[in-house]
Amino acid sequence: MSSSPRRLLPLPLVSLLWVALGTATIPQDCQKYDTISSFANPPLSEGKHALPYQRPEPRCRTFNSTEVENVIEQMRKEIVDPDLFRLFENTFPNTLDTTISWKGFAKDDPEEDLTFVRTGDINAMWLRDSANQLQSYKSLLKPNSSPDSLASLFRGAINLQGRYIRESPHCNAFQPPLEASLGPEYNGWVTSDFVVPRFSTDFVFECKYELDSLAAFLQLSHDYYSQTKDVGFFKKTRWKDTISIIVETTSELLTGTYASDGTINKSPYIFERKTNRASETMSNEGAGAPVKSNTGLIRSFFRPSDDACTFQLFIPANMMFSRYLAACAEIMREIDVEVAEKMDGFAGVVRAGVERYGKFKHPEFGKMYAYEVDGFGSRYLMDDANIPSLLSAPMLGYVDMKDPVYLNTRRFVLSTENPYFMYGPVLNATGGPHIGPGMAWPMALIVQLLTSDNDFEIEMGIRQLLSSTDNLGLMHESIHAHDQHRWTRSWFAWVNGLFGQMILDLRERKPHLLRLTYQ
Ligand SMILES: *[C@@H]1O[C@H](CO)[C@@H](O)[C@H](O)[C@H]1NC(C)=O
Ligand SMILES: *[C@@H]1O[C@H](CO)[C@@H](O)[C@H](O)[C@H]1NC(C)=O
Repeated sequence: MSSSPRRLLPLPLVSLLWVALGTATIPQDCQKYDTISSFANPPLSEGKHALPYQRPEPRCRTFNSTEVENVIEQMRKEIVDPDLFRLFENTFPNTLDTTISWKGFAKDDPEEDLTFVRTGDINAMWLRDSANQLQSYKSLLKPNSSPDSLASLFRGAINLQGRYIRESPHCNAFQPPLEASLGPEYNGWVTSDFVVPRFSTDFVFECKYELDSLAAFLQLSHDYYSQTKDVGFFKKTRWKDTISIIVETTSELLTGTYASDGTINKSPYIFERKTNRASETMSNEGAGAPVKSNTGLIRSFFRPSDDACTFQLFIPANMMFSRYLAACAEIMREIDVEVAEKMDGFAGVVRAGVERYGKFKHPEFGKMYAYEVDGFGSRYLMDDANIPSLLSAPMLGYVDMKDPVYLNTRRFVLSTENPYFMYGPVLNATGGPHIGPGMAWPMALIVQLLTSDNDFEIEMGIRQLLSSTDNLGLMHESIHAHDQHRWTRSWFAWVNGLFGQMILDLRERKPHLLRLTYQ
């Protein structure tokens, strides 16, 4: 891809028609969810945690789904502990209740659904967050052509993510589409960041290149396909073009720092920010630490926490990309066999890179995966709470939960040998440099439970999650391991959805754990 400025979208033809075709935004007099989520609203649940009811009133919800309401009603009977049910009831519908800022159709194609999913407190759409926000409803997804359905919500998100990626494949978070007439969300950093390739700030909220953002599109696509088998949707939209851009972009990022004759390769991406935080910018004039060529691993400049990578061969995103590229080849096989075979081949190359360069024999834990490597032999042994993480590898479908190398990695991640593992009387879980040492992330504990077969571990984990919400009845981004009153982000939809997803997973795998009381 050339590094010339990318084409901008045509200016909006402000047309009332397009506004009218979209879902109306919620009534003006509705309380802001920042406010609702920051205070305890009545009625309180009847357990010892007395958790508040944090759903917006029905007329103020951003999307209604009968499937989701039905599951909540079924769980009211299946979950015995009143606090646990309340936490599920608040968190599971959070993405639908609060983050579907707009749903409508493309201006140039009135049949193309578009769904703009905000992350929660920020009115921008992250590729990663939105794919995961919707994934929490995957088990309820069925083929449905109605624009009011979960299926349409997924189709709209795939189409909008595709539009974002075709335009600015290195960026991670985006502005509402012009059709929504919502106007851009302000980001004080983005106008002064120095980024190559260039992008439009009307379109992009932030342009940190993260391999997992591109993998998130593949995950979202495959989640939709696996539940609906709706090949027709992929055929009639520009999905194939988006895949080509993803393959082209990531292939370029297989290139390391040095060419075979010792000259320096031009970095396919450059990022520099004026900041006092080391995790917010890149060394070596925006290109980051040197990376070896031809390892089969794709470079990532940032992590799923949006923090800078120390070493760019970031293993969890390569695992995720390899798995979902192969999964999407299944869809592509119905559209273009040649491209599907290329995708399969590429997925295999990345997997071979992970297996060859991404492992290390630890003196205490044995053979395990590293978080990041540079291909020259340097590695960072750690884990971060954000998905994809090493702990989440089985959730990504990359390895089996019982794989011995995964199990060694897991023992390391959940020990104090992991430099970002936090423990204390409130919450024992991985954190990360994003909020910093001392702060444990509920997301990491949820991933631990989703990848565990041990009833005692799951039960103890649920107890911690229930008792660490600062009595607000929602999941938070991070919580001080020693003080539950110190936490970040009252409105973080991804982790709320993930908690609900975990409860539905336990309903399948361990229904007896939903019949316990956690008082
Ligand atoms: C959801 O349903 C309520 C009624 O229960 C309605 O007032 C509201 O407008 C609906 N929201 C959307 C986005 O359709
Ligand atoms: C965290 O682990 C420590 C050490 O094993 C233990 O004492 C503590 O009770 C745990 N914290 C929670 C919240 O379970």
